[in-house]
Amino acid sequence: MKREYANIALIGVTNHGRTILRMIEACDKLRLRSCFDINSAAVRQVAAETGCRAPESYEALLSDPELDAVAIATPNFVHRDQAIEALRHGKHVFIEKPLAVNVCEGLEIVKTAKDAGKILQVGHNTRKRRSFRQGKRFIDAGEVGEIVSVYANMSFNFGISKDVPEWKKEKDKCQMLPMTQLGIHFVDTLQYLVGPIASVTCTQRSAVIQNKHGEKVVDSVAATLMFENGVIGAIQSDYVTPEAYQVVISGTRARITCGAETILVEKTVRGKVEVQSISASEEIDGESYLSEIREFAECLLTGNLPDVDGKVGLRNVAVVEAMARSAESGCAVKIGEVLCEV
Ligand SMILES: NC(=O)c1ccc[n+]([C@@H]2O[C@H](COP(=O)([O-])OP(=O)(O)OC[C@H]3O[C@@H](n4cnc5c(N)ncnc54)[C@H](O)[C@@H]3O)[C@@H](O)[C@H]2O)c1
Repeated sequence: MKREYANIALIGVTNHGRTILRMIEACDKLRLRSCFDINSAAVRQVAAETGCRAPESYEALLSDPELDAVAIATPNFVHRDQAIEALRHGKHVFIEKPLAVNVCEGLEIVKTAKDAGKILQVGHNTRKRRSFRQGKRFIDAGEVGEIVSVYANMSFNFGISKDVPEWKKEKDKCQMLPMTQLGIHFVDTLQYLVGPIASVTCTQRSAVIQNKHGEKVVDSVAATLMFENGVIGAIQSDYVTPEAYQVVISGTRARITCGAETILVEKTVRGKVEVQSISASEEIDGESYLSEIREFAECLLTGNLPDVDGKVGLRNVAVVEAMARSAESGCAVKIGEVLCEV
């Protein structure tokens, strides 16, 4: 008989973990069984609010035979160890993006999930936003024609407007800060809309942000993209300028610009450009996060595989790693080479 809900634990309960907590609570197919964080006051607060268990250690949490899965929302540099430990304890894993700090660690997670026969889903929620799902429908219906080029920019001035955790300013924990934390959402979305990226060239800049040692941190990245199907494009991401959030797909029949709340469709009709604006605003706050958490719950209960599995997450990490290498070397870097080396 199909179970009505699965038991899940939340690992990392502040900041983004709070968003995931809201989604777990909103999903009728999940029960928050327990939570863990190195911040024990935050754990106590979540346990008091939700009534979930608060085991002393991660090991103790994973030893619970009633627990089906973990949702990991901890810093990127602990993803590998926490995911592998959970999988080895027979738990399914939902893990925040990026899958890992680099391809090597990401591949270890993917292989462990495969060997354990467990579900691994990566939290690339952006492709689930209405705007991009609608954009995908336009593309699949042929309304854009043959895609020729793409442009994407996701930037926020977090580096100026709020405290950035120190781990995000350390290269080995978060390579190319804006592209790893923000741009990777559009790396995933572009590959969802257009197909796999084949190679990149990249430049980077440290304009404003410094870490606690006074060292400059990469806070602005620009890359050109070549897709396997011949489409060309560019992507930008920075952590220090006002909000930018758009994906532009240009084809032989139309150009679509997908933003957070609207899609603009531009077509040339009898020599004139006609612009149509379509609302893509979400009905509820955090709809894309709820959608991914619901999908994970459904996979837990049915054994279905998620849309964004470990391999998809790994490819996104590989694109960012290729960008970092290109920025260092000044040369184009093929994604296949980055994936092959591990
Ligand atoms: N999908 C999205 O839109 C989105 C948005 C923001 C962040 N994220 C991702 O979520 C993750 C967390 O990001 P954040 O900004 O919330 O980070 P953060 O540093 O602000 O918070 C991380 C939390 O994990 C806890 N933690 C640290 N080390 C731990 C450990 N070893 N064991 C247990 N808990 C530990 C910290 O105490 C803290 O509560 C990152 O992977 C980030 O990329 C995703």
